[in-house]
Amino acid sequence: MEPKGDIALIGLAVMGQNLILNMNDHGYTVVAYNRTVSKVDEFLNDAAKGRDTIIGAHSIEEMVKLLKRPRKIMLMVKAGKPVDDFIETLLPYLEAGDLIIDGGNSHFPDTIRRTKYLEGKGLLYIGTGVSGGEDGARFGPSIMPGGSPAAWPMVKEIFQAICAKTPDGEPCCDWIGEDGAGHYVKMTHNGIEYGDMQLICEAYQVMKVGLGLTNQEMYEVFAEWNKGELDSYLIEITRDILGYTDENGEQVVDKILDTAGQKGTGKWTTVSSLDLGIPVTLIGEAVYARCLSAMKDERVAASKTLKGPKTKFRGDRKAFVEDIRRALLASKIVSYAQGFMLMREAAKEYKWNLNYGGIALVWRGGCIIRSAFLGKIKEAFDRDRKLSNLLIDKYFRGVIARCQTSWRRAVAKAVQMGVPVPAFTTALAFYDGYRSERLPANLLQAQRDYFGAHTYERIDKPRGQFFHTNWTGRGGTVASGQYNA
Ligand code: 6PG
Repeated sequence: MEPKGDIALIGLAVMGQNLILNMNDHGYTVVAYNRTVSKVDEFLNDAAKGRDTIIGAHSIEEMVKLLKRPRKIMLMVKAGKPVDDFIETLLPYLEAGDLIIDGGNSHFPDTIRRTKYLEGKGLLYIGTGVSGGEDGARFGPSIMPGGSPAAWPMVKEIFQAICAKTPDGEPCCDWIGEDGAGHYVKMTHNGIEYGDMQLICEAYQVMKVGLGLTNQEMYEVFAEWNKGELDSYLIEITRDILGYTDENGEQVVDKILDTAGQKGTGKWTTVSSLDLGIPVTLIGEAVYARCLSAMKDERVAASKTLKGPKTKFRGDRKAFVEDIRRALLASKIVSYAQGFMLMREAAKEYKWNLNYGGIALVWRGGCIIRSAFLGKIKEAFDRDRKLSNLLIDKYFRGVIARCQTSWRRAVAKAVQMGVPVPAFTTALAFYDGYRSERLPANLLQAQRDYFGAHTYERIDKPRGQFFHTNWTGRGGTVASGQYNA
């Protein structure tokens, strides 16, 4: 058996098949394998028909023998146990210097663990985010690889050949960092995706319920928005969804049950933000909004008894649509600022050297959150590599200054009309909190000290000195820090 395969791919579901075809289009010889082996022949006789540089393997042993050394094997299987199972199955056939790549949506702690495990055996490991759905995989995804640094030169050429390109022709794939960095960045991408989708859905709800716009009218609004600062894949597909009618002339969007699904990456982002103490409030709200939507029966029951305001919109509808657009844009800036704050903290915690401008560039094309906006983020990091927060960049500061009055008006009117806009609202609250020199946490610290002697720092004393007040005259002077059990 001649080892002529450049890379093997395990897992012939649609993403796996499309990645193989994409690699093959770029001149690579790919060995295809699937646990249910019949799928290999189905693939060869169907989508891969006539391509003699896509080779089917009917066992792991055969697959490994068909590969050039050092071997590169990419898994496109379900995240979780299947990845560990395949790693164990592959191990006896591999030798030092061979590389396993996991291209699924794996949880980053698993990728950290697997990298360490395989490096300990002399192998190399990459956990990579691959975004862009079926079409992306076929014609150019955004790829976010992390893992063993020595593995990057082995896949750089192939990944940068098959990935999406920015409008300037730059590849939407670059090395993200060690062990779990690639999957962390992909997880954050997905969290931001949840946020972007929720913001669009809130804009839709305010226009639909608050203003009574028809789908056709909203189609036109989104078409218009897509020509400007909000130009993005998610706005574009929203436009198309609103304009879509089925063979009976019915508008499909109106027929879809209003309960959102989720596979967990948004939740992981939120959990990580809580673990790291970073207020990624918008993604959190987006996850909770999906949870609330899923409580359909309870909501239906509550809708019959819980009353809201009767306020109807009065005013200039066109001007209000523009308010909504600006609220969406300003909220989006907050969401991305929070996402980059999170990655910055994760980099500290996990000792990754992340290149934030580079990440914006990788997300600029191919992925679900691709947008013109990401080009602006890249420019902000080009202006200042060490930029601590997107909100203070001069371009984004300017956009918020321009949008702010509209943003507040949109939130206030939605609240008055009783239309829920949790993501718009939390973004604005974050913005106002972030720009507050003084927050009410002085009172909060007093409360903690009052009931639990938790102590506080003082504005007139150096940081790090802690004080306790005997608020009631009964508690004595012992502070909680002094009697840690
Ligand atoms: C991508 C997507 C993808 C994700 C879906 C579904 O980048 O191509 O993020 O990886 O699986 O968006 O996610 P939910 O089912 O959680 O909405």
